[in-house]
Amino acid sequence: MLSQKLVDSINDQINFEIHSALIYKAMQAYFEAEDLPGMANWMEVQFQEEMSHADKMFQFVCESGCRVKMLAMDEPQNEYASPLDAFQTALAHEKIVTGRINNLMNLAQEEKNHAAQIFLQWFVTEQVEEESNANHIIAQLKRVKEDGRGLMMIDQELSKRVFVPIAAA
Ligand SMILES: [Fe+2]
Ligand SMILES: [Fe+2]
Repeated sequence: MLSQKLVDSINDQINFEIHSALIYKAMQAYFEAEDLPGMANWMEVQFQEEMSHADKMFQFVCESGCRVKMLAMDEPQNEYASPLDAFQTALAHEKIVTGRINNLMNLAQEEKNHAAQIFLQWFVTEQVEEESNANHIIAQLKRVKEDGRGLMMIDQELSKRVFVPIAAA
């Protein structure tokens, strides 16, 4: 059902999603240390989202009768110059993810694998939201600049984010 090339590529992406989760967990730790609990909460939810992306791909590979392999990961960036720096780093990372998902879709199309294309479509849509979320927060952070009150208001807003499991979404 899946070519070895597709299995290998999706397997790489499973590992990349877990690496993404690790990056957001490191950002959560940064925000916890900065006493910005709302932003820390947002990153915790982002961590859970990335793990759920990895799980969704994991299940797809397993259901296709293929084998998943866990790979070693690079250490994530732990220090950031500012909240804006952290969210800009998150956006840059999401743009890399979008490129990788598009490459996966290109491969599924080249191989005329319809099941894989339908499966990957969810991730194509998800990446639009991922980039939009980060862009929105970056715009707000730029607007408040160094204003402490503005920063606290954004932090309060981001404290409301809750993790929504994929199946229920
Ligand atoms: Fe993801
Ligand atoms: Fe993401």
